[in-house]
Amino acid sequence: TQDLVTIPVVVHVVHHPDMPEQNIADEQIHSQIEVLNKDFRAKNPDAGLVPEVWRPLVADAQVEFRLADLDPDGDPTGGIIRVETDQHGFTWDDGVKSASTGGADPWPSDQYLNLWVCQLTGGLLGYAQFPGGPPHTDGVVVLHSAFGTTGTATAPFDRGRTATHEIGHWLDLYHIWGDDDGACSSDDKVADTPNQADANTGQPAFPHITCNNGPHGDMFMNYMDYTDDVGMFMFTRGQGTRMRACLEGPRASFLI
Ligand code: ARG
Ligand code: ZN
Ligand code: CA
Repeated sequence: TQDLVTIPVVVHVVHHPDMPEQNIADEQIHSQIEVLNKDFRAKNPDAGLVPEVWRPLVADAQVEFRLADLDPDGDPTGGIIRVETDQHGFTWDDGVKSASTGGADPWPSDQYLNLWVCQLTGGLLGYAQFPGGPPHTDGVVVLHSAFGTTGTATAPFDRGRTATHEIGHWLDLYHIWGDDDGACSSDDKVADTPNQADANTGQPAFPHITCNNGPHGDMFMNYMDYTDDVGMFMFTRGQGTRMRACLEGPRASFLI
């Protein structure tokens, strides 16, 4: 099987006419694509901050992202769609993914990664659909101010890591703590990430030990935890293997 996989991306910018900041500039979108192409290739400059014990685990996932240059009809495109909405904000109910609910319909989700960028309510930074779900809602949604590194991107979520995290889900990665609310009973189904109790937020101090995972503790600098953008800078080899399995399985339509 081929090594490097390039995923065509279409960005749907869904914005309210009264809130021009939601209509983010092309430059902000390009800054996000740049982050993805660093993070998924382990070329991110902060990879050097990974604690020494885990450096051998840092993985190049061999996935790249490119704004689509052909639309579904085969016509040239910049891969950026701008749609006005009458909605003042969206939530995790997939409303942004359909024109009938004030959003934008996806391009065929077996050929494009659909990224919707919009206002989200309730402190939500973004959400993703795992592989195997309904095609018409497949893709990733990101709050405009947590997208890219320029324009409306706002600290502490201004390093483009929300999209990195959500695309991790889109490629079948689970949260590193296993979503068991501190129980230590379920994990992320990846062997080389330590089992950890719960999500970490902000900028934790190393080591943070939970679930008997000492001496090194939680791998809170992993993209699949919940820390601030400056604090997340690695996927592991095990996560890379899982993403590859996704691209050879449920998302094999992207291997061409
Ligand atoms: N779905 C998560 C949320 O809305 C995304 C977390 C991303 N974390 C980050 N540092 N960018 O909270
Ligand atoms: Zn998540
Ligand atoms: Ca694990």
